[in-house]
Amino acid sequence: MAFSSAQLPTEHFDARFSTESVAFWVPILIECAKIAAGHRVVDIGCGTGEFTRAIADMTPATVTEVNISAWFIQFARDTPVPECGAVTWKVGSAEVLPVTDGSFDRTAVSLVLHQPRNPRPAAAEAFHSLVSDGRVVVRTGAPGDVAACVPYRLFPSMSAVDTDRMPPPEEVEGWLKGIGFVVTRRRRVLRKGKLQLANEERTLRVEFQGRYSFIPEQEREEGLQAMCAEAEANAGGWTDPRPASLIIASKPA
Ligand SMILES: C[S@@+](CC[C@H](N)C(=O)[O-])C[C@H]1O[C@@H](n2cnc3c(N)ncnc32)[C@H](O)[C@@H]1O
Repeated sequence: MAFSSAQLPTEHFDARFSTESVAFWVPILIECAKIAAGHRVVDIGCGTGEFTRAIADMTPATVTEVNISAWFIQFARDTPVPECGAVTWKVGSAEVLPVTDGSFDRTAVSLVLHQPRNPRPAAAEAFHSLVSDGRVVVRTGAPGDVAACVPYRLFPSMSAVDTDRMPPPEEVEGWLKGIGFVVTRRRRVLRKGKLQLANEERTLRVEFQGRYSFIPEQEREEGLQAMCAEAEANAGGWTDPRPASLIIASKPA
């Protein structure tokens, strides 16, 4: 089943970039991609751009945020710019990037390649966006990881759908190699995110109206009850492994 996060309400989507998540992932993305001061970086499928702004600020770098959703990009434009570095915005698709070939030193593709119907053109555009010797960092999940995480493991039909659309990291590496990238490293990271029942419930109730509207009422109720019981049993220390793989690849010189 094809799904784009761009179908989600913008502020609901932006809430996923918690301070904790940005503080955890951005240094890892910078380290893996070896983003340095002055680099030109394109973040393909940036969402509302919280990672990109933090990358600009921390390195500092000149970053271009690209997303298929005009609403997400408008939200990003309306957000205060970082103190350091620079940010520009473009509405466009990963498959036909609205940027000039060979104009970036680094490309980030974080949790995006499972969304286009055909991800190969997106891998090709990531390749073409880079200068020779440029580097891409791809963050992706693995099908087997989905069912281990909240809320998926409490809602079997949700887990089945998302497991089905998540490509194995080996397949993602195959797309990158197929266009000419040299894959240099794969790193599996466990975020062990802290969960808060109120946030999880609020998120679910919005998503039950959208991408998970097919979940039967009984499964929703049972899953919500199980989630409350789990939160209560782990009061104060409810965490989730939230695994992800980071694939780093270079464009040959
Ligand atoms: C799961 S979110 C990831 C957002 C962010 N990169 C992150 O790591 O949290 C996927 C993002 O990719 C965008 N997206 C989906 N398909 C796209 C496409 N074909 N071209 C550009 N952006 C796309 C969605 O709108 C959404 O913002």
